[in-house]
Amino acid sequence: MGKPKRIGILTAGGDCPGINAAIRGVGKTAIVRHGMEVIGISSGFAGLIHKEVMPLGEGDLSGILTLGGTILGTSREKPFKKKGNGAVDKPKLIKKNYKDLKLDCLVCIGGNGTQKTAWQLSEEGLNVIGIPKTIDNDVFGTDFSFGFDSALTIATEAIDRLHTTANSHKRIMVIEVMGHHAGWLTLYAGMAGGGDVILIPELEYDPKAVNRYLLDRAYKKKPYSIVVVAEGIAHPEGQSAADYVAHMIEKETHIETRKTVLGYIQRGGSPSANDRILATRFGSHAVDLIAREDYGRMVVNTKNETASIPLADVAGKTRLVPENHSLIQKAKSLDICMGSDCIILKS
Ligand code: F6P
Repeated sequence: MGKPKRIGILTAGGDCPGINAAIRGVGKTAIVRHGMEVIGISSGFAGLIHKEVMPLGEGDLSGILTLGGTILGTSREKPFKKKGNGAVDKPKLIKKNYKDLKLDCLVCIGGNGTQKTAWQLSEEGLNVIGIPKTIDNDVFGTDFSFGFDSALTIATEAIDRLHTTANSHKRIMVIEVMGHHAGWLTLYAGMAGGGDVILIPELEYDPKAVNRYLLDRAYKKKPYSIVVVAEGIAHPEGQSAADYVAHMIEKETHIETRKTVLGYIQRGGSPSANDRILATRFGSHAVDLIAREDYGRMVVNTKNETASIPLADVAGKTRLVPENHSLIQKAKSLDICMGSDCIILKS
């Protein structure tokens, strides 16, 4: 076989700040340190199915460290998803194109879905390395994925801004934060932004307890309240979580309540300094693994160190906030309502 000479790189799933920094980390380490060739694959696994590729030279990697989004484009193509009879055999096509492109390894930058596909491809015999990215911070096996810190900064700033307008109008402000089924972004942004109520999918919430807590704040002459809710909390279909919670509060407390859905702003724009560093570390570490021909692994951050674990340990799992997470305990100690058993201190 010989040393790996030519590697492919793709970005799949929802984008986030820091992907280009990771592409740069992979590309520079591969070209400069190991003398490898780098092939960029367009639009996630779709680009590997349709053989839409471009060589990535040193010039293509210049000036992308601070750039949001992904220069390669992305898609939510899932090649292993079962289709009807007669449908194209996408994994077979991917294997053929991997061979035609003379790739020695494929680097897959993505979230949980991408890492599962990466594992499936490695089970099919391809050399694959995964790099976790997502604002949701829910990729199993890593303490942090890049994208999270940038989104946290944006969500926190948004909450900061709600404080002043809430105070002027003596309102309750409900803000909905992304995160899919995980509450990491909501918990961290809620704490950083001084949320009074923080609702995450991992903890059941009791509308009565939330309303009682908000009324108690009003009795204590607190002029306004900030309620931070995760998009993934239990709520009826056809409504956003923020819509549902704002209505639930206003109906029972009779305190004027407004809602804000933060949405894709959380995923856009330039990465934070921490995400640039994390993404660069991840990208460079991925190539060190390739140089050692240590395939079938995903790069991780544990206890502030960059390391790697088998893709087999990651595939099909989601990292949710544990119910006893230390930040939840701290929130409760500070009289922040986490949805139920809200402490009502005597005024
Ligand atoms: O996984 C990142 C994320 O932004 C989630 O927080 C959100 O639920 C989802 O992607 C939105 O997906 P889409 O980009 O397909 O609308």
